[in-house]
Amino acid sequence: MKSEILKALRNTEGFVSGQQLCEKLGVSRTAVWKGIQKLKQEGYTIEAISNKGYRLLEAPDVLNIDELESYRKTRWIGEEIYYFDVTDSTNTRVKQLAEQGSVHGTLVVADRQEAGKGRRGRNWASPPGVSIYMSILLKPGIKPQSASMLTLIAALSVTKAIKEFTGLLPQIKWPNDIVINGKKVCGILTEMDTEINHINYIVVGIGINVRNTEFPKEIAAMATSLLLEGGKEVIRAKLVQEVCFQFEHYYEIFMKTNNLSGVREEYNAYLVNLGRKVRVLDPKEPFEGEAEGITDTGELIVNTKEGQKLVSAGEVSVRGIYGYV
Ligand code: BTN
Repeated sequence: MKSEILKALRNTEGFVSGQQLCEKLGVSRTAVWKGIQKLKQEGYTIEAISNKGYRLLEAPDVLNIDELESYRKTRWIGEEIYYFDVTDSTNTRVKQLAEQGSVHGTLVVADRQEAGKGRRGRNWASPPGVSIYMSILLKPGIKPQSASMLTLIAALSVTKAIKEFTGLLPQIKWPNDIVINGKKVCGILTEMDTEINHINYIVVGIGINVRNTEFPKEIAAMATSLLLEGGKEVIRAKLVQEVCFQFEHYYEIFMKTNNLSGVREEYNAYLVNLGRKVRVLDPKEPFEGEAEGITDTGELIVNTKEGQKLVSAGEVSVRGIYGYV
């Protein structure tokens, strides 16, 4: 009910009359009035003028189910949305929902994680009120070996969403970190449940630093947030839905060919490593070369003295020769 009022207020230039809201929502004037009062208590500034109706002047950056639903503009992502003020990890929540039969596209968002997971067994610091922690459940009919490409699809989607939203210039550090001015603003953790040649489900978990101003000291030198980089004020629920919108778009392009041919050019245009010297931290034998972009299946093309090498995501990590990018 609150989310429907919010949606109507947001989608209308100027005032929405009480009568219009009653008709749209199929409820009484008193119910509309109560809904408006609740929104005001939650921090929304709503102007009410007799004979004109209601107008939304300002919305706070609160994460809750109403906010998330009112900004939704996707067709299948977020058909089921779950929001938690606090949870262990949104990836873990999605796995549990998948086991219970939740649908393709189910979205879980939290304001705080007590056991946020990063890649390579690291933890992901997840304080409240400042970041986005979101995970999407996917049940694509693709082979397990193709799943890592979805991580690149997620990276492209978040990059595009941040760019559209803030006017900042985010870039991708292959395969799936998002950086602004060389510092990491978003991390992506893809997990999956498979049988020999079949994917039961995939969880794409995305963490975006929105208005963080401090970070744990181990990552402080290479981490940043949208606020620190000077973007516009960000309403997190809106950015979550923009990420979902972009992801739905790029995912559908990916599913047409089961590879990255349809997005490769765009991905490469955002690639921070492009044309730069990189060090490939291959546990067998680290090497250096110049990154040339990705292949249709998401490997990084690196030109070395010995010739061209293809680096697969997941096997190794890549650094700039002078630091993180
Ligand atoms: C990385 O190490 O770069 C990946 C970080 C992924 C963090 C996100 S936050 C939402 C989701 N839930 C988790 O526990 N991890 C991912």
